[in-house]
Amino acid sequence: MYSVGNSIIKKEVQDYINANLTTDLHALLLKKSPFPDVSMLEIVQQIKGKQTAQKKFPFLLKEGIIFPPQLNLEQASSEKTAEYKSQILTGNKLIDLTSGFGIDAFYLSQNFNEVTLVEQNQPLLNVVKHNWTVLGRKATFIHQNLEDFLQANKDYFNSIYLDPARRDSNKNKVFLLEDLSPDILEIREKLLDSADQVVIKLSPLIDLKYLVSALPGIFRIEIIAVKNDVKEVVIFLSKEKKAGILVNCINLESGETVFTFTFGEEESAQAGYSEPEKFIYIPNNSILKAGIFNLISERFGLNKLHPNTHLYTSGQKINDFPGRVFSMETIESKQIKKKEQFNIISKNYPLKPEDIKKKYAIKDGGKDYLIFTQSKKGKIILKSV
Ligand SMILES: C[S@@+](CC[C@H](N)C(=O)[O-])C[C@H]1O[C@@H](n2cnc3c(N)ncnc32)[C@H](O)[C@@H]1O
Repeated sequence: MYSVGNSIIKKEVQDYINANLTTDLHALLLKKSPFPDVSMLEIVQQIKGKQTAQKKFPFLLKEGIIFPPQLNLEQASSEKTAEYKSQILTGNKLIDLTSGFGIDAFYLSQNFNEVTLVEQNQPLLNVVKHNWTVLGRKATFIHQNLEDFLQANKDYFNSIYLDPARRDSNKNKVFLLEDLSPDILEIREKLLDSADQVVIKLSPLIDLKYLVSALPGIFRIEIIAVKNDVKEVVIFLSKEKKAGILVNCINLESGETVFTFTFGEEESAQAGYSEPEKFIYIPNNSILKAGIFNLISERFGLNKLHPNTHLYTSGQKINDFPGRVFSMETIESKQIKKKEQFNIISKNYPLKPEDIKKKYAIKDGGKDYLIFTQSKKGKIILKSV
């Protein structure tokens, strides 16, 4: 636990913090704080907070905002994904049972009349309370363990939001619901008794088939990527039985790309197969995460290169394809000249891009692409034209 004193927001302290935003923090930590009532550790915490905010939540780069320790910054959602979630979640009463640094709650609060934040970490909740006052946003702040809160709660909400923390940071382990704090399976019934819908943010590592079988009541799933990097899997649960599970695969880039399907559609979808034609299609990662490899072929009338190669092809160009489209030709490996510059993509191919670059003495980058992959006939190399 930690505390951030009021002295941190004094003008001279904030000026010192702003003047050291690019200073080497290890060196700074060895120095003595110029302020008697603020430690160097607290100063460095604020610098790290501002550095993180520049990339992750620029709306907090405001005078008077204070930042919690690194772990809470890391656990917080980004402004970009929180903003997207605020567009799909509206209503009268919202409760965020795992407030954390309150980034999700802040954005979600824009489209609700009444907002309650629950958090077990008191100093963290104090920071959030302070910041929301600075930002002019009202809410009810409750310092409590959420299980105790739910036990005593008599209130009913339109939406309950949860962003559980990972108990175990071992990235190589299979991702299970039991690894989360709180344990969703344990409190599921209580949650569903207290709201029309329960919305839970989960790691992009979670397996969707496992999720749907382990957690009854899911009626909607959002797979959210930012710049083609899958950041969140957000699930909607309700007590009411709904037909089918709607899945939205989102890519937030300059705009927003959405691909929608119903869970289970993949099972009956049929993929067509062919050797590469003029156009090669790579679906967005949020779609690949959904594992709808046959459905993509069927929906867009594209052929797949191989059952295990998630590349698609067609003689026609589809302009609204949710992913990248390349115009390409098949080449022989001897056509690759040493020191030529290419971006390398390797899909269902035994060598990684790094190994390919070494093997063919290719320079990385530029505007041209080489794709190393397999069609049904065997290994092939494609070059952008
Ligand atoms: C991943 S963070 C939430 C981040 C938040 N969504 C944001 O955007 O800033 C999870 C938070 O849930 C809190 N938490 C975990 N288990 C809890 C429990 N049983 N009761 C109350 N809070 C809990 C943790 O203290 C942590 O701050």
